[in-house]
Amino acid sequence: MNLFGTIRAPRELIFGSGQRHALARIASKLGSRALVVTDARLAADPDFLAIVGQLEEAGLNVRVDDSTMADVPVDSAIASAAAARDFAPDLVVGIGGGSCLDMAKCVAVLLTHGGRPQDYYGENNIPGPVMPLIALPTTAGTGSEVTPVAVLSDKERSLKVGISSPFIIPTASICDPDLTISCPRALTAIAGADALTHAIEAFTAIRRQAVPGLAQERVFVGKNELSDHFALRAISLLWQGLEAACDDGADHLARERVMMGATLAGLAFGVAGTAAAHAIQYPVGALTHTAHGLGVACLMPYVMAWNAPAIRDELEQIAMATGLAGPDAVIPALSALFDRIGIPATLRDLGLAEDRIDWVSEQSCGITRLIQNNPRPLALPDMRNLVAAAYAGDLARLN
Ligand SMILES: NC(=O)c1ccc[n+]([C@@H]2O[C@H](COP(=O)([O-])OP(=O)(O)OC[C@H]3O[C@@H](n4cnc5c(N)ncnc54)[C@H](O)[C@@H]3O)[C@@H](O)[C@H]2O)c1
Ligand SMILES: [Fe+2]
Repeated sequence: MNLFGTIRAPRELIFGSGQRHALARIASKLGSRALVVTDARLAADPDFLAIVGQLEEAGLNVRVDDSTMADVPVDSAIASAAAARDFAPDLVVGIGGGSCLDMAKCVAVLLTHGGRPQDYYGENNIPGPVMPLIALPTTAGTGSEVTPVAVLSDKERSLKVGISSPFIIPTASICDPDLTISCPRALTAIAGADALTHAIEAFTAIRRQAVPGLAQERVFVGKNELSDHFALRAISLLWQGLEAACDDGADHLARERVMMGATLAGLAFGVAGTAAAHAIQYPVGALTHTAHGLGVACLMPYVMAWNAPAIRDELEQIAMATGLAGPDAVIPALSALFDRIGIPATLRDLGLAEDRIDWVSEQSCGITRLIQNNPRPLALPDMRNLVAAAYAGDLARLN
């Protein structure tokens, strides 16, 4: 086998307890007028105000936009970019959960290239580099601090929409696990389960023929030697830390492991892509109004059971990385871990109505970017079977 690999990452990525206080030094090298994009919760936080104060002490002009809403409605990003124009920022800093980071990415795109977010939906539709962008995540989950993705909600569309382009990978990212200590148990579980799902989907994604141009034509190229490195390490770290971080939010070692795991998972899926669990979550999330992380994690064991014949080697490696007895132990152990941290075991428990199984199946198959990244093909009848199994909690049906 020829080795093929690619990784895309921020120019500078810093991880560690207390590293948030390096922001001013990093920012002052990238710009002088910083638009800080966050939400109302964080804008009132004394630690956040201290960080903003450090930016000002370093000589930057700072404006705080605390209007981020969960799941980033498109209109809110348009309004933020419009409101920022008179300030003329030359640097955007996103501080918060995935929603704040995605909002910051979107605002940076609009301030640089004009237009509306709708102009950039899909893959590789941003015409060139965007202004410098710094990301400081306060959840450990989405990996947005390192990914080429911004996820938005658009009331004109039934499903959430994505902008994917290497141009929106933040210029610099600071991952300080101390910022996640305040996450309540449910948020820790949902965000961390999303991260574990990113790592597993990246590690088990399809392996494409490595023709020249693959990584230029596609944002998501499938499983490869470099993304695997990050994905497997992410699985191991999240497996060690996620339950402990849920059980005791002040467990610093667990918080570090989960945040490192989430960031490495972002590096992995930012090039490899995700697959069927993410595709099916889109319509499920639209119908049930449940958090992204709950849906993808609920679906992951069923998707792995369907994929099992195509991912035997990967299951073996996951078993080794997590200390499980062998490949057959992985899916039951993952279901048990998710159960212990409060992830619903079935789509029925998630609130899906049984008569929407067909609609969910059709919509999921329509998300070809993700379905084509799945290691085992999923034609519509197979998808119906998979969604029905996930609804009923019937893993055996997929064997
Ligand atoms: N860009 C990507 O690569 C990518 C990947 C996966 C998901 N997403 C998107 O990210 C969003 C979800 O992000 P998320 O899971 O980080 O949640 P979030 O950003 O939507 O935040 C959820 C809630 O948690 C609060 N919160 C954030 N940090 C906190 C902290 N430290 N302590 C207490 N409360 C805190 C927020 O104020 C908010 O009320 C979704 O829109 C999802 O589609 C993006
Ligand atoms: Fe996700």
